[in-house]
Amino acid sequence: MEKFIVKKSKGLSGQVKISGSKNAALPILAAALLCSEPVRIDNVPTLTDIDVMLDLLRCFGAEIKPCGGMLTIDCRNTVNSIPDYRVTKKIRASFLLAGALLGRFGFCSLPLPGGCSIGLRPIDLHLKGFAAMGAKIATEHGLVTIKAKKLHGSSIYLDFPSVGATENIMLAAVLAEGRTFLNNCATEPEIVDLAGFLNAMGAKIEGAGTDSMTIEGVKELHGCTYKIIPDRIEAGTYMLMAAAVRDSEIRITNVIPQHISPIIHKLTETGIQVITGDNFIRVISGREIHNTDIKTLPYPGFPTDLQAQFMALMTTGTGSGLVKETVFENRFMYVAELNRMGADIKIDGRSAIVNGVKHLSGTNVKATDLRAGAALIIAALTAEGQTEIGEICHIDRGYVNIEKKLTDIGVDIKRIKEGDDGECTE
Ligand code: EPZ
Repeated sequence: MEKFIVKKSKGLSGQVKISGSKNAALPILAAALLCSEPVRIDNVPTLTDIDVMLDLLRCFGAEIKPCGGMLTIDCRNTVNSIPDYRVTKKIRASFLLAGALLGRFGFCSLPLPGGCSIGLRPIDLHLKGFAAMGAKIATEHGLVTIKAKKLHGSSIYLDFPSVGATENIMLAAVLAEGRTFLNNCATEPEIVDLAGFLNAMGAKIEGAGTDSMTIEGVKELHGCTYKIIPDRIEAGTYMLMAAAVRDSEIRITNVIPQHISPIIHKLTETGIQVITGDNFIRVISGREIHNTDIKTLPYPGFPTDLQAQFMALMTTGTGSGLVKETVFENRFMYVAELNRMGADIKIDGRSAIVNGVKHLSGTNVKATDLRAGAALIIAALTAEGQTEIGEICHIDRGYVNIEKKLTDIGVDIKRIKEGDDGECTE
C-alpha cells in the first residue's frame, strides 16, 4: 500500500486545473455499451475507478483506444457476459452496467453490489424501475439476473432521488418501447451530462436536471463525440484546501461555478472571499474561519461528497458548527481520525458538532473512503508537524494527480510506497 506524508503548509498560491468529473464519466462510459457505433469521449479523468469501468467494458468486448486526449469506445462487437465479482466489487458504479446491458440485450447477470464504509447502499430503487419496465428479476448466489424480452416505457416514482437509480433507469429506457416518465428523480449535473451524452447519440430525453424526466424510446443509437463536465467535487475540495490554510490565494480553472454554489455560499459565510468568473473560481483566505452549520441534501443542496472536507476545515475554525448528514447513514467514519489529530468533534447519529480548536497536530491516520481521505489532507495542511495518511488508494480513486496539483500550489506532500499493493475496495 502507499501513504502520503503531508507537512504543515504556509499560504497556498497558484492555479489548479480541474479534471473531468468521475461521477459523470462512470455512467457515460457504461452508456457507450448501448451504441453499436464508435463514440469519442473527451475529458475522461485518469482515475483508478475509471480504469476499472474500462476493464469492465472490455469484458463485454468493447474496443477502447486513446486518441489525442480522448477515448474512442467501439461496442459494435459487444457480447453479453457475466463479469468477475473480483472486478465488479472494486466499484459500486459497476451496477450501472445493468441498465446499459438491459437496454442493449434485454438481459444481464451481475454480482450484487455490496455496501461500503459509508452505508448499505441498497439497489431497490434501481430494481423497482427495471421491474416497472417489464423486467423479471432474480437474485441468488450473490448474482442479480434481470431479463426482459423488450423493455417498455413506464411511469416510475423514485422514493428517494437516487443518483444511481436515476442513471440506471435512463440507460434502460432510451431503447425501450414507448415513453418513460421518471418522477422525483435526481437532478445532479452528472445526470444532465449523462442525458447530454445519450441525446448526442440520438436518444430523446427531456427534463434532465429537473425532478421529472421524460424518455421517449428510440430504435437505435448512433456514434457521437462528447466532452465530460468538470468535476465539481474535486473543485470544491481544492476550494476547501485553500480556505483551510491562512493567507492563501488560489485560482481554480476549468470549473462550472454554478455546479458548486452551495460551497461558494457556505465558504462566504465562514469569512472566506470567493470570486467567480465564467470558468474559474478564486479563493482568498484570511486570518480566521467562523464556523457555520451545514446539512447535506440531494442537489442543489450541500453535496454529501464535500461534507467530510468541510468538517475538516471547521476543526480549526472559531466557534462551533453543526453538520447534518441526511444522504448516507454512516458518513462520519473519518471523524475518529480527525479527533486523533486533536479535533473536537462529537457525533450524535447523523449529526455532529465540531468545536474549533487552536490547531491540530500531525500523526498517523488512514483514509476510510475517497472523500475522507481528502478531508485528512485538508486537516494535515494546518496540523503542527507532519501527518502520515495511509490507504491513499481511496484518494487515487477520485483525485487526478493530486500530489502534483497540491505541490504546484505550495503543499509539501510526498507519496511513499510501503509493503505490497493491497486491494482497495469501496
Ligand atoms: C452517487 O452514488 C455518487 N457516486 C456518490 O459519490 C454520491 O455520494 C451519491 O451519488 C450521492 O450524491 C457515483 O456517482 C459513482 P444514491 P449513488 O443512489 O448513486 C439510497 C463519491 O465520493 N438509495 O443517490 O450510490 C442510498 O442508500 C461517491 O464520489 C436507496 O435507498 O448514490 C443512499 O442513502 C460516494 N435505494 C441515498 O439513496 C437505492 O436503490 C443516496 O444514494 C439507491 C439508493
